[in-house]
Amino acid sequence: MRTPLIAANWKMNKTIAETAAFFDAFLPVVRDVTDVDIIIAPPFTSLATAAEKTRSSSVKIAAQNAYFEEKGAFTGEISAAMLIDAGCEAVILGHSERRHILKETDEVINKKIKAALAHGLEVLFCIGELLAEREAGKTNDVLRTQITAGLAGIPSEGIVVAYEPVWAIGTGKTATPEIAQEAHDFIRSLLAEKYGDTAQTIRILYGGSVTPENVKGLMACPDIDGALVGGASLKPDSFAQLVRFNR
Ligand code: 13P
Repeated sequence: MRTPLIAANWKMNKTIAETAAFFDAFLPVVRDVTDVDIIIAPPFTSLATAAEKTRSSSVKIAAQNAYFEEKGAFTGEISAAMLIDAGCEAVILGHSERRHILKETDEVINKKIKAALAHGLEVLFCIGELLAEREAGKTNDVLRTQITAGLAGIPSEGIVVAYEPVWAIGTGKTATPEIAQEAHDFIRSLLAEKYGDTAQTIRILYGGSVTPENVKGLMACPDIDGALVGGASLKPDSFAQLVRFNR
């Protein structure tokens, strides 16, 4: 019922030439994959090249951020309309690095999601607790707040949720399938409170040190519908292995 989705978040990595080289190596090895959706989020400067390279494939291109205003005096920001213009079909919003390094609040993220959806972008909405919050037994409270505030006034269409425990991002410490499934089950129950039965159709991705070695165990969990991958998405062969997790 929920098509698996494997998404790449390249973060602040790859030049335009490196982006082109990635797709030249990656696309031929995933051409036969029709049962898994693929999204790749390069940095802004590589979006147009990535969109051009993937034009005749099923791979969708996402941005890693978007601002909520339409246009104007917002130095350094990029609007949803500009992302569409560059060939994007999706956008990552609420990533923990933007929450914690760039100090984005739930309220700002909520506005960004609304603007992105209004332009027809699919939204990969990221949530997740810090290590200190998990150790203090606050994981569910954090997830509830992030979902409630982040998705306030927002319908479920076009939303993918990505659960990325901050302690697992870039640390090599993947959540065990049990820990991840428990969080995903809770997130789905929050979505069910909000959206009713539609929650069963919303994809929830896991992110945080996903590798070709651990992806199978995670994807075997009933509420894990895909992965949002940082480090292991930068090499065409390892990302292709992730996309081909079920082969
Ligand atoms: P890593 O896969 O490098 O841990 O990054 C996860 C992530 O933040 C994806 O958005």
